Amino acid sequence: MNEQLFWVGGTDRRLALFENAYPIPKGISYNAYLLTDEKTVLFDTVDRAIAEQFFENIESILKGRPLDYVVVNHMEPDHCATLGEIVLRYPNVKIVCNAKTVPIIKQFYNFDIDSRTVIVKENDTFSSGEHTFTFLMAPMVHWPEVMVTYDMKDKVLFSADAFGTFGAMNGNLFADELQFERDWLDDSRRYYTNIVGKYGPSVQTLLKKVSTLDIQVLCPLHGPVWRRNIQWYMDKYKTWSSYEPEERALMIAYGSIYGNTENAANILAGLLGDRGVKGIAMYDVSATHPSVILSEAFRCSHLVFASATYNGGIFSNMEHLLMDMKAHSLQNRTVAIIENGSWGVMSGKQMRELLGSMKNMTILENTVTLKSSLKEPQMAELEALADQIAASMA
Ligand SMILES: Cc1cc2nc3c(=O)[nH]c(=O)nc-3n(C[C@H](O)[C@H](O)[C@H](O)COP(=O)(O)O)c2cc1C
Ligand SMILES: [Fe+2]
Ligand SMILES: [Fe+2]
Repeated sequence: MNEQLFWVGGTDRRLALFENAYPIPKGISYNAYLLTDEKTVLFDTVDRAIAEQFFENIESILKGRPLDYVVVNHMEPDHCATLGEIVLRYPNVKIVCNAKTVPIIKQFYNFDIDSRTVIVKENDTFSSGEHTFTFLMAPMVHWPEVMVTYDMKDKVLFSADAFGTFGAMNGNLFADELQFERDWLDDSRRYYTNIVGKYGPSVQTLLKKVSTLDIQVLCPLHGPVWRRNIQWYMDKYKTWSSYEPEERALMIAYGSIYGNTENAANILAGLLGDRGVKGIAMYDVSATHPSVILSEAFRCSHLVFASATYNGGIFSNMEHLLMDMKAHSLQNRTVAIIENGSWGVMSGKQMRELLGSMKNMTILENTVTLKSSLKEPQMAELEALADQIAASMA
């Protein structure tokens, strides 16, 4: 990255589910960085899956020099599963971390920790020779012990999971060497909303803290490194963490067993298109992973949920999705509902309750209720709903 700082991470393109939960068809990178100052300093380690590459990378740079320090910004196994092996290979290494990190290291490992830790707190400084670092605590920017480290000499921020993204590194280390907005932004939003989305206020606190720093290089633990347009990316984080929609845009999500709810959703989408609504996004909750739809809900200002009734409740994948949205604190959206059922239609009422329990949701009044299938006279109801949605988007 420069004469002294090296990316020593790696990429996993084999893993199907990150955290055993999120599909990553484009893979994932685990970033770690090595500084060869008067002392050598490693910033975080990596997931077990890429341990071999990681140690090879480190050795090719250290060339027999000892590793003096490892800074642990985040003690989650995707970054710390190889910390134990670091200690085995470099027995004199000191671990730089904050007080909240120590008990978590002890939970995961049995090596002697107390004799090798350098405990740092907010705004402490630490020097490796030419470089001096300062530390800012970032609790709940994923886990409670998270901190970020700022290199005051080169103005580099090691930002832990913040500003990370799903996606393999494909030879280009820097975001400005990629078409980030075109090729990466959706995955980056999906990463943020699903992994950190619940902790918006904590992210806002971190954003305020780092806004006072002159950041020339932003080094997250996943995905490309930023050295241009950092403010653009930070602004995305500002929007996502404030739960404000990123775009005035509409997403329709439907849950349908036999296709009749789907049909109504398709017709509504067409009516909205006729009314000038552009860029409509539409998902079948059984076909698209909830992490994608959750991410889209963070992007869009207006949401339509259409669901069949299922065992007296909401169609299960739709229920899962709505619970996920609530769990991730989605708020400030305008929402419309379509329900369907053959004998006791319940899904609309229950969706309204669930959505109503989220913060600051405007739920449009006209729920459209289908009984098994859409009948011609109900077209007027869908037209009225389309009018109402279009008006609320204008
Ligand atoms: C397992 C199962 C449970 C269902 N439970 C209910 C129910 O509790 N109440 C109801 O009115 N319809 C229930 N239905 C019927 C569907 O909600 C109804 O046929 C609906 O019109 C299907 O819409 P679709 O064509 O979009 O799948 C159930 C269907 C299935 C397969
Ligand atoms: Fe994490
Ligand atoms: Fe991570």
